[in-house]
Amino acid sequence: MAADGNLMATIRWQIMKQVEILADKTALIQQALELVLEKLHAAITARGIATLALSGGSTPKPLYEALAQQDLPWDKLHIFWGDERYVPPTHPDSNEGMARQAWLNHVPIPASHIHPMPTDASDPAVAAERYEHDIRQFFQVPPGRFPSLDVILLGMGDDGHTASLFPHTAALQVQDRLITVGNKDGQPRLTFTVPLINQARCVVFIVAGASKQPALAQIFAPTADAMMYPSRLIDPQGELWWLLDREAGQVLG
Ligand code: 6PG
Repeated sequence: MAADGNLMATIRWQIMKQVEILADKTALIQQALELVLEKLHAAITARGIATLALSGGSTPKPLYEALAQQDLPWDKLHIFWGDERYVPPTHPDSNEGMARQAWLNHVPIPASHIHPMPTDASDPAVAAERYEHDIRQFFQVPPGRFPSLDVILLGMGDDGHTASLFPHTAALQVQDRLITVGNKDGQPRLTFTVPLINQARCVVFIVAGASKQPALAQIFAPTADAMMYPSRLIDPQGELWWLLDREAGQVLG
């Protein structure tokens, strides 16, 4: 959805996105599992590896637990994070910690294939630059270019944020970098930028619960303030999927 509400971009967004409303959270997670597996296998077939960025929060945890039960070619998978709270991986709020406990600690994925966001620098901006360097090195893309991850998983907050792109924050405006420092109520976070997310081959939102209805109504409205509802900024060059449970999705009619 174009930030400036450009009509053609809005029409494209309305046409191109795939929206599926599932009966409940269990069905939502199952659909997300099937979609992610399909995209990862297709990437491996096409390019020999698959790159996946994880979202944080609570919704994706059962998806990660389900992925831990899969028989995937783990040596062909590379895991990144789309955002991270600025805490150690041992902290209960850590997105890295959650994904490792739910999934990555239980499968034989090479340790070098897990690319967590660093949170050990005293200055989060230094950590953001370090992760940007790591990603540029991995994808072999120079400054000014944006790599295409195969799959980027996203959640959406009750306020319409995604990753750590919070309403009316400076992170929403960053167009020349891959990684920036997000800000949630004064707390620093690391986050993929909008242009990095929008370069993905496939972006999958996984959204559950009635509390998401007000933001979803704004995000799917023909016009609304994208600075207020940052998920409106997500308009990838590839596929865009919105997987909703009925509690969240019923607001869309
Ligand atoms: C995080 C996120 C964030 C999350 C949403 C939804 O670090 O918290 O990545 O963007 O996806 O806040 O969170 P829930 O899934 O807990 O509703």
